Amino acid sequence: MTPLTPEAKKAISARVQFYRELGIHSFYRRSEAPPLEDQPIMAKTSSATSAAKAKPLPVIQQVSSEKGELLDAVRADIGDCTRCRLSKERTNIVFGTGNLDADIMFVGEGPGADEDEQGLPFVGRAGQLLNNMISAMGIQREDVYIANVVKCRPPGNRTPERDECDTCSPFLMQQIEIIKPKIIVALGAVAAKNLLGLNDSMANLRGRIYDFKNTKLAVTYHPAYLLRDPRQKAEAWKDLQMVMKHLGMTAPAGKNG
Ligand code: URA
Repeated sequence: MTPLTPEAKKAISARVQFYRELGIHSFYRRSEAPPLEDQPIMAKTSSATSAAKAKPLPVIQQVSSEKGELLDAVRADIGDCTRCRLSKERTNIVFGTGNLDADIMFVGEGPGADEDEQGLPFVGRAGQLLNNMISAMGIQREDVYIANVVKCRPPGNRTPERDECDTCSPFLMQQIEIIKPKIIVALGAVAAKNLLGLNDSMANLRGRIYDFKNTKLAVTYHPAYLLRDPRQKAEAWKDLQMVMKHLGMTAPAGKNG
């Protein structure tokens, strides 16, 4: 068996911790990954390298490459944005990141301090919990795409205002159209209400799969809320299980309950 790297050990212990918090205590380790040549072609997560561009690409990679170019165009359109007041205090625009051929796209509210500093979504404490939630589904962060309703940090992490969301959400819609996920998971009320155009409580918004544009959408709690109220993690896990069932994903052994 290949020895685990310290990073892999850390990731596994984070996942185990999340399961424990859900009251799940029995685990097994998957058999070793198949040799590389037997694995499906992984989609790229950002612009194509020049070496990759030089050779003709297999179909899946060509699609990813087109998506990458389209996303680059959206990012270029955003530019050094000053369309709303959030631009004044931001350090970096947090565009979004992940697998361009993702089945699942997570949508949060807006960047926090860590995200603003690094220019990447969900890299702080809430991001760590999101990683664990994704990992509990038997997949990895690299398998999904992650973006936010607003791309600049609201000062002091306040809730983004209506006009700020309205100004920024066309870019999110373009990202969704390009990625074409099979399902979007709206993280928290801001994402859910903005995407669905519904002003309802989280209790009412959760628990069902919506038709949304040409895809589907489910709502769950924002990881930052789960950090404040960990008792709701079991409810969030139910939401994720609903998403997994919709996609025909099998939960890792012992994670069904
Ligand atoms: N919260 C969000 O909604 N998005 C992030 O990227 C980080 C924290």
